[in-house]
Formats: sequence, structure tokens, C-alpha cells
Amino acid sequence: MTPEVLPAATWADLVTERLVDAIAARPALVLCLPTGSTPLPVYDLLPARLTARGVSAAAVTIVALDEFLGLPAGQPARCDAVLRRRLLDRLDIPVGRWIGFDADGADPDAACLALDAAVAAAGGIDLVVLGLGANGHIGMNEPGSAADAPTRVVALAPSTREAAVGYGADPPPTHGVTLGLASILAAREVWLLATGAHKAVILRRLVDQPPSPAIPASWLLDHPNLRVIVDDAAFS
Ligand code: GLP
Repeated sequence: MTPEVLPAATWADLVTERLVDAIAARPALVLCLPTGSTPLPVYDLLPARLTARGVSAAAVTIVALDEFLGLPAGQPARCDAVLRRRLLDRLDIPVGRWIGFDADGADPDAACLALDAAVAAAGGIDLVVLGLGANGHIGMNEPGSAADAPTRVVALAPSTREAAVGYGADPPPTHGVTLGLASILAAREVWLLATGAHKAVILRRLVDQPPSPAIPASWLLDHPNLRVIVDDAAFS
């Protein structure tokens, strides 16, 4: 796998353009989106870029990639709150075209089954966009995750909990729910995004080693329609 390496100064611009291309090509795109800090510059650009190019996102369905458990609804670090604040409210995605985890109910296992069922009812995921965890996770599929891992409740790795503090959850949650690797790999197209020098070590390990549970993102290397889109700082 050879990553596409873009200049840091234009990375967000080019990824945004490609996302607009994807929506233009398939207006009813079923699009799974991550949170974390990596995609935020793209989300900041996307609404105006859609308008500028005359592309409507009104028929797009957005699927949550993951969610923390134990944070109250609306807590700013919650993945659904971040997506709503940074993107969905600015795209006017109707409530019915948002497929998220019910992280507030009594039964998070049932919430995982419900998310997979809603995705299946929507026809499956067309495009899943992923950030790369510092430990090689995607979504909350932490090291040790098998390629057929289902959508499920997970215990968060220490580095993921540290990241959660950075997003504003202090004390950080211990568990989350994540789209499983099986569902991620079933998407028709996968984009793995990484930016910044702090991703250089994990990106190098990902590129150099065969797929294994030690680096969950490495399972993506078997996907027939994978794009790894990084900036030159991450690929240094
Ligand atoms: C977080 C999230 C992932 C995210 C990844 C990278 O813990 N669970 O969905 O993509 O780690 O985060 P960042 O983009 O902030 O580096």
C-alpha cells in the first residue's frame, strides 16, 4: 500500500474536494464519519464547498463510527455532539438520515445491533472515512481486534483515554461502542486519513508490516477499495 501524500497546507482542501466529488457522484451516499481532530479541517470546509460547487448533501445518510459510553448526552467530547456541532448542523442533515449509537440507553450491546441493522436497512455503507489512532486503532477497534470483529462495546486503550481527555472528557470514559472491523471492511470504499508528525511512527509501522491484530488499521490493507490520504508531516 502506498499512501497518497499531500502537502500539509492543501491536505484538507483536497480531501474536501474529494468528499464533494463522492457526494456529487452518489447523492444518496451512505457515509460513515469519524471524529477525533484529523477530519475537523475537512468538516470546516465542506458546507461552503458543497454550496460553491452546487452539490446538495440533502439525501446523504451519515453513520456514526464510534461513541464514548458514560458521557452525558451533549457533553462536548461525545462523538455525536462533535459531529453535530462541527458538521451536521451546518449541512441540515435530517434526523432520519443520521444513524448513531444509542449511547444513553440501558443496553449498549443492543445499541450496537441496532446500529448495524440501521446500516443494513440503508443499503450498507458506501464510504467510510477513518482517522488513525496513535496505537493503530480505527474507530474504537483497539489493538487485538480481529478482522471480523463485530460492532460492539469495547474497553478503551490508555492512549485512547488520554486522547479523550484532550477532547474535553476529564475523567475520560473507560468504554465505548464502535463500528466493528467486519462492518468497516464491508464498506464499498474506505479512506484512512492521517495528518501531523505525531502520526509518522504508527503510519510507518502500518505501511511496513503485514496485516495483524497488533495494528487494527492494518486489516484495511486487504480492502479492494482503500485510499490512505496523509499529509507530508505524517509521512516524514
Ligand atoms: C480517536 C477516535 C477515532 C479517531 C482516532 C484518531 O480515539 N476513537 O475515531 O479517528 O482516535 O484521532 P485523532 O484524529 O484525534 O488523531
